[in-house]
Amino acid sequence: MFSLNHYQPTRVVFGNNALNEIVKIIQTYGNNVFIVCSNSFPARKESNLLFSLLEKSGIHYEVFNEVTTNPTEDVIRKGATALKKMQSSVIISVGGGSVHDAAKAMKLQYSHSSDGLIDYTVTGKYSVPGISNNMIPHITVPTISGTGAEVSPASLVRIENQKHIIYSPFLYPIACIVDTDLFTCQDEETISRVGVDAFYQGLECFLANNSNPFSDMFALSTVVSCLKYLPALVKDTNDDSLKQLVELASINSIKGVSNAGVGAIHALSDPLSGQFNVHHGVAETIVAKSVINHYIEKKVEKINLLEKHLYQSFITTNKDFPLMFVQQFDWFLSKLVINTTDDIKAIRTKGYNMDSLVAESNNPDMGTAPIHLSNLDIASIFKQSL
Ligand SMILES: [Fe+2]
Repeated sequence: MFSLNHYQPTRVVFGNNALNEIVKIIQTYGNNVFIVCSNSFPARKESNLLFSLLEKSGIHYEVFNEVTTNPTEDVIRKGATALKKMQSSVIISVGGGSVHDAAKAMKLQYSHSSDGLIDYTVTGKYSVPGISNNMIPHITVPTISGTGAEVSPASLVRIENQKHIIYSPFLYPIACIVDTDLFTCQDEETISRVGVDAFYQGLECFLANNSNPFSDMFALSTVVSCLKYLPALVKDTNDDSLKQLVELASINSIKGVSNAGVGAIHALSDPLSGQFNVHHGVAETIVAKSVINHYIEKKVEKINLLEKHLYQSFITTNKDFPLMFVQQFDWFLSKLVINTTDDIKAIRTKGYNMDSLVAESNNPDMGTAPIHLSNLDIASIFKQSL
């Protein structure tokens, strides 16, 4: 017996010219849109695909292009103020996870009276029940895959150098448009460090203490797809079919995570991103190996199930595919381009306070870890990782 309460209201549109669909969706709500993106997007040639489509359709738009990795409260407040001024009917976020997360936080701030986002974080004064169903319709347009933020009900924001989670079913975007014509500015390293998040989400969701047959289905499919398609996409960064398959893995990871949660890899990565502004996928990779070793040492049973499943899935086509999960993980990482060295060096140079890293690791992501990690366990993982 298991319990399930699945809700995923985001319409997902895939395919050639999927972007054209955006006009019909916008026009259901009005005629002016607020576009949230990074500062590099408007200068990239594919941005014209979106801008000219809106212009041709008589849709007025304004662009807010100040979102960076690990978006801060200041940027979100600035965006929400611009959104209020424009009184737009729809918000569109175009980019990766940080851009979608920022847009969700902006639409929350736009429609809720309290000044501080901190009040709406899952551990805040108002928390999840304080977020009401009066959000401006939000359409996501991913330009890179991995976080699945384009279909998730969560927003990760940095408030006073601490990463916080805002969650509400009302934060789900109404639609996600996946058009690989917009996935053009992708180098091997960006694809790797963003894409690897889908793998960690699938892995942690499969191991989570909340996992169930429904979440397992998506978690396993995510892990297998990441192992199959992410290294292939890193090798051939222009392959549109692979881009779609990695995006599908990202979407599946969220279907799993929204039912079962994540675990210690995400939990320990949060203070590294919050305090040192390390990219999410890089921060996860810094701690992942030691977390996995800890789980193996503590005999987390589902790792054995996973390693058997992966071995059977890959050995027929990859004669060198390892038998043990730690080596399978190394095999996967060796095919990606993720530089953890520079960030580890920067963290060491700046200096870190172990007590605060440990304290901030005891966040909601930890709640679904497969086993309890004591403060000593967490400190020991950080020592090994940094
Ligand atoms: Fe993640």
